[in-house]
Amino acid sequence: MLSGVCLCALAGEFVFAEPSGTSSEAASAVAHTEANATLAVPGTRLPGQDGSQEGWAITLSPLSPPAQTISDLFYLILGIMVCIFLVVGTTMAVLIFRFRAGRNEPGGEPPQIYGSKPIELAWTVGPAIIVFVLFLVTARSIFDIRATTPPKEAIHVRVVGHQWWWEFQYLDHNVTTANELHVPLSTDGTPRPVYLDLESADVIHSFWVPQLAGKTDLFPGRVNHMWFQPNRAGWFIGQCAEYCGTQHAHMWLRVKSESEDEFQKWVAQQQKPAVLNSAVSAGRDLFLSNACANCHTIRGTHAKGIFGPDLTHLMSRETIASGIRLNNKENLTQWVQDPQAIKDGCRMPDMQLTEDSTQKIVAYLLTLH
Ligand code: CUA
Repeated sequence: MLSGVCLCALAGEFVFAEPSGTSSEAASAVAHTEANATLAVPGTRLPGQDGSQEGWAITLSPLSPPAQTISDLFYLILGIMVCIFLVVGTTMAVLIFRFRAGRNEPGGEPPQIYGSKPIELAWTVGPAIIVFVLFLVTARSIFDIRATTPPKEAIHVRVVGHQWWWEFQYLDHNVTTANELHVPLSTDGTPRPVYLDLESADVIHSFWVPQLAGKTDLFPGRVNHMWFQPNRAGWFIGQCAEYCGTQHAHMWLRVKSESEDEFQKWVAQQQKPAVLNSAVSAGRDLFLSNACANCHTIRGTHAKGIFGPDLTHLMSRETIASGIRLNNKENLTQWVQDPQAIKDGCRMPDMQLTEDSTQKIVAYLLTLH
């Protein structure tokens, strides 16, 4: 099963993701990204805030041991298949030209010959050996990429799939965030593998960051495991890989691999409660008195909802709406005003806020660094 999933992931699939940023892009953003996903444009622009980081979220450029193992297996199988194709194709071509009927030869059926032990043995034993070899290397690859006992330097993250966003809980650090997973970069001397416990709050999702590892499903009522270990710094784009409802196509995720120092700084910042800025207390009061607080947590306030993403450090994230929009004032305003216009069918309703209330709430959200 697993190898089937992995091979499917390698059959030229990739994730295309480009969050839209400006209002001029906004109107057509959803249609634009959907169209691109459908057209399967092979590549993606990664979201550095400075716009400098570009990369390919493609299965054929593995940057983590499990992805490398899957890629090696893919090329091995591809190589064997190409050999078989060449042998069969060449034999056929030779037979067609070598034994075609000559102009002066009589027509009709040629003499029929039955039974040749050597030939029958060859075409039974040969394929059986090939299938057996493929079985062995596939089984070995599955054992290689399986998450077994994590080493003590591992980072543990509990991933919960929601319709349609990702919750990331850092079990050893008391940090909860959404959609953007920060992990330390592994170097030769200091491996920092990331071990994930995968669960679902509703339906089946699938965690897939092509350059880091194969797909692993998230089931309600079950904990699955996987691991990866990025060996390059930067953003890695992923996507929910199991149809999970209307906005499945917009259930993107991002993994940021950064130096140990940067990672520790990020953790320390995430552990702090939300800042209390008196200049935006009107917005905070509105947030807490409206239904917002029932679904979102902002640590340091009485907002303790767990239905939507934790917003304590919302502005430390580069994107909103599970990666489909850049996180800026303009997009936040549109989102708070009418999330359904950006992500039709998403679980956050249009709160029917007045223009003034929207502005105040957004002003408050913008202080949550
Ligand atoms: Cu979650 Cu598809």
